[in-house]
Amino acid sequence: MSEHIETKPGEWDGERRPLFLAPMAGVSDLPFRLVAKACGADVTITEFTNSTALTREAAMSWRKMESHETEVPFIPQIFGGDPGDMATAAEMLAPTADIIDLNFGCPAPKVTKICAGAALMGQPDNLVSMVDGIIERVDVPVTAKMRLGTGQGANNAIDICRELEQIGTARLCVHGRTLKQRYSGEADWTELRKIVDAVETPVIANGDVVDANSAKLCLETTGAAGLMIGRGAIGRPSIFGELKVGLGWMEENELPWIQELGDAWYERSTVGQLFASRKWCWDKYIQFSQQTVGLQPRWMKRHAVAFTKGLPGAKKVRHMMHGAPTPEMFADAISNYLSAKPTE
Ligand SMILES: Cc1cc2nc3c(=O)[nH]c(=O)nc-3n(C[C@H](O)[C@H](O)[C@H](O)COP(=O)(O)O)c2cc1C
Repeated sequence: MSEHIETKPGEWDGERRPLFLAPMAGVSDLPFRLVAKACGADVTITEFTNSTALTREAAMSWRKMESHETEVPFIPQIFGGDPGDMATAAEMLAPTADIIDLNFGCPAPKVTKICAGAALMGQPDNLVSMVDGIIERVDVPVTAKMRLGTGQGANNAIDICRELEQIGTARLCVHGRTLKQRYSGEADWTELRKIVDAVETPVIANGDVVDANSAKLCLETTGAAGLMIGRGAIGRPSIFGELKVGLGWMEENELPWIQELGDAWYERSTVGQLFASRKWCWDKYIQFSQQTVGLQPRWMKRHAVAFTKGLPGAKKVRHMMHGAPTPEMFADAISNYLSAKPTE
């Protein structure tokens, strides 16, 4: 077992279990992953990257695989339909990666049409032999993320997980929906429970965890080794610290945005506190960008819209984006907007 992968725990008794930021294309860029860590995420994973493009040295794809010394463990995620390219890409990543994660969950047609992502769950033998070929070629742990099944016929994640366990997959993560469901309906945590019970490999539960109540219910229902949070963290990386407080794993006054404001935090309205935590996260996003990949206007725009969504006056943000002559001025404009102290 790797130093970064815990053994399968028993029934959940309220104790700490790791919280993962989900790999999300267009969201989980390096500075965002570092913000999530600063907010309390225990594990981060890059957005998925095309293994064939990596083998062809595509600069854009390698950009997504950048990390920083503080991102420990570093877990790049790859996808692809060609077993040879998957193994070669894994081999190219292995010297810098702590763990390599494989994507068998993506439902996007551009991915499934090359028989990659969740489509591979419809060809379980190919999926398992692909993973086997990768494990043979690299000496870092290999993990896999999947869905419950394709949605055509019975769910087969449980069988796939059993086979992946046999060949030495170090950890499994299952999103409680099928390929056919994409994001509709609800994640089925009861199905996840069956998988947790079927294997000795640690299983991370994913799908529809958005606050402390859902996190608690998901851990109680699944007994999973940890939780992975995706959409709940978009625009709100503070969710990781908030969950830890809600689950009794840390004190509220340990949250970094509360530490920064001190007593002034408690004098703020609920919306005022929301502005303050988002401002802390935004300023960190900018700081981490400057320390790593530099200010990336396209990434900043996406996050600025997400970080300000639902806040009063957020419509101004689009004007700010278009009006700012430089990325630095754009960063400051968002930070100034989030400095507001609404009283209700
Ligand atoms: C915008 C977006 C991009 C995503 N990109 C990836 C990805 O690159 N790799 C992956 O394994 N899953 C990806 N997913 C799926 C998430 O990792 C996660 O499995 C899914 O959102 C369910 O979790 P949630 O209910 O917490 O959002 C993506 C999801 C979203 C919303």
